[in-house]
Amino acid sequence: MKKRVFSGIQPTGNIHIGNYLGAIRHWVAAQGEFENIFSIVDLHAITIPQNPKILKTKIREVSALLFAAGIDPKQSAVFVQSNVTAHTEMAWILNCFIPMGWMSGMTQFKEKSEKQKKEVSVGLFDYPALMAADILLYKTDFVPVGHDQKQHVELTRDVAQRFNSIYGDTFKFPEPIINEIGARIMGLDNPIKKMSKSEALPIHAINLLDSADDIRSKIMKATTDSDTEIVFDKNRKGIYNLLVIYEQFTSFKRADIETRFEGKGYADFKKELADVIIEGLRHLQSRYLELIIDPSYVDSLLKDGASRVRPIAEKTLNEVKTKIGIG
Ligand code: TYM
Repeated sequence: MKKRVFSGIQPTGNIHIGNYLGAIRHWVAAQGEFENIFSIVDLHAITIPQNPKILKTKIREVSALLFAAGIDPKQSAVFVQSNVTAHTEMAWILNCFIPMGWMSGMTQFKEKSEKQKKEVSVGLFDYPALMAADILLYKTDFVPVGHDQKQHVELTRDVAQRFNSIYGDTFKFPEPIINEIGARIMGLDNPIKKMSKSEALPIHAINLLDSADDIRSKIMKATTDSDTEIVFDKNRKGIYNLLVIYEQFTSFKRADIETRFEGKGYADFKKELADVIIEGLRHLQSRYLELIIDPSYVDSLLKDGASRVRPIAEKTLNEVKTKIGIG
């Protein structure tokens, strides 16, 4: 029996190379090894205000991007979270087992709520309960994510443990899979801030659907420093981040990269980095364009994905309801 993988992505903003290098690429690479479930988490998206038309379009866009990136619908079930209602039911139940104190400690909530100020919703606070429901419903073994989701997966394990200690063995304890390199790609404008979909400044992120010209111009403008040496030095955050992106797209060894750019300037390096990204995204972009002209095909894959996972989710939900004496 293959171990099961579950992961999710929000259909908001533009999907960028941080999402790709930190998550999607690993989902694709390990597909054959696992039984895979990937969700377009639209219920998480509505924890902050969304325009309904844009949200609907984004759900399809992100789904098409996953398939374009190499997610194979035969090996992986891809579905839209709100199409499997067990997620919301399970999230409610888990809410009743998560102490307020655990939630208050979530760093992502603190960051996101700062931006939202007084408009911040209860849903945003409760976001990790829904994420725990996503993972626990499928008795997931592994959760491949970027670094920013680690704390949420830890909370998921904690609530699973709490539930099991009261009602007996029910949930599996999921393990996060976080590839150290590439799990935290930083913003191009500001390398001390994580690359994020919600950042407004256009040069902040390279989006997966950016044109070659946009990629070139963003990379050329990326923040570096006044030094000249092109070496992997974590203290020089701007150039380090760009080198990590180069490393991730080429899979070259660090020492070889440093030798390659010895004596060269930042402009030379940036030109080559832009070429490497453009080349690295070329196939994904052309496949995306093929897929998106036939939305009904993408929709049919999502429908199929939901019908494959729904019985698994419902089985766990029913088991949990029986244990707690409801339903
Ligand atoms: P989301 O949509 O913000 O991001 C999707 C994936 O991309 C990773 N990621 C990054 N990796 C490296 N560098 C970055 N700058 C970067 N930015 C984002 C994220 O870590 C993530 O793996 N809460 C999740 C979605 C979710 C989920 C789940 C994930 C909902 N339910 C269950 C796993 C399991 C989120 O908002 O991801």
